[in-house]
Amino acid sequence: MIYVTRRERFSAAHKLYQPKWSKEQNEAVFGKCANENWHGHNFELFVTVKGEVDEETGFVADLKDLSKVIKTYAIELLDHRNINLDVPFMAGKMASTENLAKGIWQQIEEPLAALGCQLHSVRLAETENNSVEYLGES
Ligand code: NI
Repeated sequence: MIYVTRRERFSAAHKLYQPKWSKEQNEAVFGKCANENWHGHNFELFVTVKGEVDEETGFVADLKDLSKVIKTYAIELLDHRNINLDVPFMAGKMASTENLAKGIWQQIEEPLAALGCQLHSVRLAETENNSVEYLGES
């Protein structure tokens, strides 16, 4: 089994704000991320697929096709958008990096399977220091 990873990047705005809580509680838990007027990140998305090497191509997956699926089903919906307001697959969810990684998995899993690619992981880096990884389990 070989694992192949494609990186894509996007920039987006969000805020972390739990409407059931007071402003003070939100600021205590989320700090600057609760800023009412939003803030942005330059996200890095790492999508890993797995499989056996095709004897004829020597590939597990064609990276051009992989990139196209990620762009069509995730990046184009996220880049230069407000994650809380503009992104249908994040509607009604807290705009955390964790939920975003799960949402991206749900967006791309089927189109990748249609290409014959088995999705292994979605890793999303919000900053140089903070990233989350989702392997598809609930
Ligand atoms: Ni943030």
